Amino acid sequence: MPIFLPTASQAGFPGSFEDGIAGYLALRNIHVAAVSVTLLLFLLRGYWMISGSRLLTSRFSRIVPHVVDTVLLASAIGLTIFVHQYPLVNSWLTAKVVGLIVYIGLGTVALKRGSTAAIRSSAFVGALIVFAWIVATAIGHSPFLGTSDLGNL
Ligand code: HEM
Repeated sequence: MPIFLPTASQAGFPGSFEDGIAGYLALRNIHVAAVSVTLLLFLLRGYWMISGSRLLTSRFSRIVPHVVDTVLLASAIGLTIFVHQYPLVNSWLTAKVVGLIVYIGLGTVALKRGSTAAIRSSAFVGALIVFAWIVATAIGHSPFLGTSDLGNL
């Protein structure tokens, strides 16, 4: 689906068309950077979980991922406003939000709530698969791995 890029003023910001493009690109770069850092932190904590490291419950583990996730969500909300597409209106964004909820649920089982090592490891792998699907949905603007798009849900 083609992306409609608003001018800065259409998106609710003062400024020229170029300002709008520059703001959108900056926000998307922040979003993609936050996506990369969140994945790295999840992989690191998964390694700590599998190796039984006490670092999993360290101050770092309790604070830094939440800061990064806040940046990821804030930039996501900003991007939806910029591209004028929204969850529950556009299927690929609905899919991203559903994927994010499933990813958070599986991530919590993997790093915290899973009662056995097998459950935690399975949830960890499941979370990584869901994460990959969210990225594919973002790139293809379709929940169906870019093969088709039923349009708006
Ligand atoms: C773990 C969660 C998420 C991941 C892994 C993720 C990943 C990505 C990636 C890789 C892109 C860049 C796509 C490209 O350059 O073609 C992107 C863009 C975007 N994401 Fe996310 N995202 C996540 C969560 C969200 C959420 C929750 C929303 C909104 C509800 C959202 C809204 C957007 C929007 C509007 C864009 C811009 C699309 C475009 O410019 O074509 N993202 N996301």
